[in-house]
Amino acid sequence: MLILNWKMNPKSLTEANKLIFAYEKQIQDLKIKPRSILIAPPSLFLPVLVQKHPDFIFGGQNCSDQDQGALTGEISASMLKSAGAGFVILGHSERKKMGESLALINRKIIAALKNKIKVVLCFGEIVKPKNFQTAPSEWRRQAKILFNQLDQFKNLGRDLIVAFEPAWAISVNRQGSVSIEYLNLFIRWFRAETEKKIKHLPLIYGGSVDAEVVKLFQSAEIKGFLIGSKSLEPSEFGKISRAYYN
Ligand code: PGA
Repeated sequence: MLILNWKMNPKSLTEANKLIFAYEKQIQDLKIKPRSILIAPPSLFLPVLVQKHPDFIFGGQNCSDQDQGALTGEISASMLKSAGAGFVILGHSERKKMGESLALINRKIIAALKNKIKVVLCFGEIVKPKNFQTAPSEWRRQAKILFNQLDQFKNLGRDLIVAFEPAWAISVNRQGSVSIEYLNLFIRWFRAETEKKIKHLPLIYGGSVDAEVVKLFQSAEIKGFLIGSKSLEPSEFGKISRAYYN
């Protein structure tokens, strides 16, 4: 699966529609199962995009941990769902920068799962570790909080996707590239650490994904990619799709 995080782009619904028509052109010759490309536009655009483009799945980029109430500016998981969202991205490092704690993200995951909306959880360290062998202790610290009380949900393997996306590797604050060895270190750690409690969670990778990264990580046991900046450029999206689906 390819998950496209548009962040706060594009500027208008008209441009959002144009972007999707441009995607369709790019992938028309590829054999792609309908609805295996997931798009997270600004949530205001959801109802129209869901109606107009049934071949794609749309989702939110965030939701509240509460269902409703006096919370100006917030959008709940059930509201996203009623707008047609099939998933929600939670725990993105840009939201952490705005002050989201791991405990809040954990409550959001629970709220989304209770409302039967799939979660794409961004997971990974903010600061590039000096020595990659020390990363697992930070991953362990995060996992303890993020996965707290998730054993109440059956079928987590269907409803929770974990995107390994170290903040230092995403394009806006890039301090280096994730190597295949590092990705594999994470995958091995994740499987060993969480498999006893939470089984078979699909893993994907995010962080400066382009067609080269897709090719580089072809052998890794991941189920797809989370794509930010390159998803706003149809030709780059086309290259990524050709690298992934061919
Ligand atoms: P990027 O963004 O692909 O531009 O690095 C990924 C993300 O922030 O989810």
